[in-house]
Amino acid sequence: MADKLIIFDTTLRDGEQSPGASMTRDEKLRIARQLERLKVDVIEAGFAASSNGDFECIKAIADAVRGSSICSLARANDRDIARAAEALKNAERARIHIFLATSALHMEKKLRMTPDQVYEQAQQAVRFARNLAADIEFSPEDGYRSDVDFLCRVLEAVIQAGATTINVPDTVGYAIPELYGDFIRTLRERIPNSDKAIWSVHCHNDLGMAVANSLAGVKIGGARQVECTINGLGERAGNCSLEEVVMAVKTRQDYFGLELGIDTRHILATSRLVSQTTGFVVQPNKAVVGANAFAHTSGIHQDGVLKARDTYEIMRAEDVGWSANKIVLGKLSGRNAFKQRLQELNVHMESESEINSAFARFKELADRKNEIFDEDIVALINEESIAHVRDAYSFVSLSQHSETGERPQASIVFTANGQEVRSSSEGNGPVDASLKAIEAHVKSGAEMVLYSVNAISGSTESQGEVTVRLQNNGRIVNGVGADPDIVVASAKAYLSALNKLQSKVDRVVAQGWP
Ligand code: KIV
Ligand code: ZN
Repeated sequence: MADKLIIFDTTLRDGEQSPGASMTRDEKLRIARQLERLKVDVIEAGFAASSNGDFECIKAIADAVRGSSICSLARANDRDIARAAEALKNAERARIHIFLATSALHMEKKLRMTPDQVYEQAQQAVRFARNLAADIEFSPEDGYRSDVDFLCRVLEAVIQAGATTINVPDTVGYAIPELYGDFIRTLRERIPNSDKAIWSVHCHNDLGMAVANSLAGVKIGGARQVECTINGLGERAGNCSLEEVVMAVKTRQDYFGLELGIDTRHILATSRLVSQTTGFVVQPNKAVVGANAFAHTSGIHQDGVLKARDTYEIMRAEDVGWSANKIVLGKLSGRNAFKQRLQELNVHMESESEINSAFARFKELADRKNEIFDEDIVALINEESIAHVRDAYSFVSLSQHSETGERPQASIVFTANGQEVRSSSEGNGPVDASLKAIEAHVKSGAEMVLYSVNAISGSTESQGEVTVRLQNNGRIVNGVGADPDIVVASAKAYLSALNKLQSKVDRVVAQGWP
């Protein structure tokens, strides 16, 4: 086979570490199925030992997903590794990913271990894991800031112990492309058994260079696996973005000369699903998946593109899932047309009854909005699937009054555990009044740390997509709501965030958490 670049997606593990991005089991399963459709080679589904909830998510994904290898993270100890193996036991292909910090700073201050202890523990963990799985990845956490001689010693030993992939994380996003590429190359050149493992890059985006560093690790360093997340999701400034790294390698095949297994036509739908599930909005000018990524507004560019697309377009929008046909359906459109549009958008629904309920929601929306764009359909489907899993609070209706010089008022009807609730309030604006009306009944006491509105399809006729981030008792959650009326979208987003706050999360943030 031609030289292949393995795409390792860690949206469900490293991506989930973003504030408020934690996902339920059903949400993770839905994203995993979408990643399978995208044909990612490896899905890192979570960190089995971190919580019972994460264990169950990994298990559900390992049971259901077939096309991709399923991976669990584990610290370098027998308990974590056994737990990972247990969660993965029904996977078609299972990988255990062991990490242990190797930088002087992390060993001394965080682990309180000597280099010799780390050296011993790393080997012993890999040896133990090899009895439970054939595919073992080892990551020296904070590897890029580690002493190169020590790192060579540890990595040689873990390859000897049976590690099949060696991943070199730039945990804190400190690297510079050329230096990171050279670092990987040096390790591969100096370690005598380096050819017995696949080399992998894992870059964080603190200096905005995660994609550039990863590509340098591939081109200069000879890495053949990239670890990345959809939309670059991840704590702080995020991880290397899957869509950017994949489209760079594909578009510049002439330079990289590498094969990819990814079906890029599913990129946009995956990006939308992750954004709507986590509440992390994609900025309009984001490469590949941002609303403006293929929009030409300057007259010169438009003229050029009409004469010959490649004057200003280096990728085809259709190749990443954008549709050329923007206005799709209206209230006279039937179920078949709707179903066909879902197929063209690469939106997968599990059953006919799911299609029926999505079609009913589509009809409701079409009654209120003349033109239904692709973006509206994707938002509606995602909202529908997310709503299924959290039903403590659910929106029913809202009325509000605002007039210049008057204090706005809102009255809202919603259900709380199946009971209808009516509540009213005034506020600084109609959104504020509506959310205060909800809070007057729920009394969550949560603090709002983010509120953002985004026009789904770019005009005032568009649906507004609202993200609300709430913080309460040390937990942060994001809620998302979409509606042509942004006050309603805001109320839906607020209720969705309250639902998330209600759901139990039992993750243990343990010593050594990356
Ligand atoms: O950033 C990091 O170091 C990690 C490792 C666990 C791979 O996420
Ligand atoms: Zn990471």
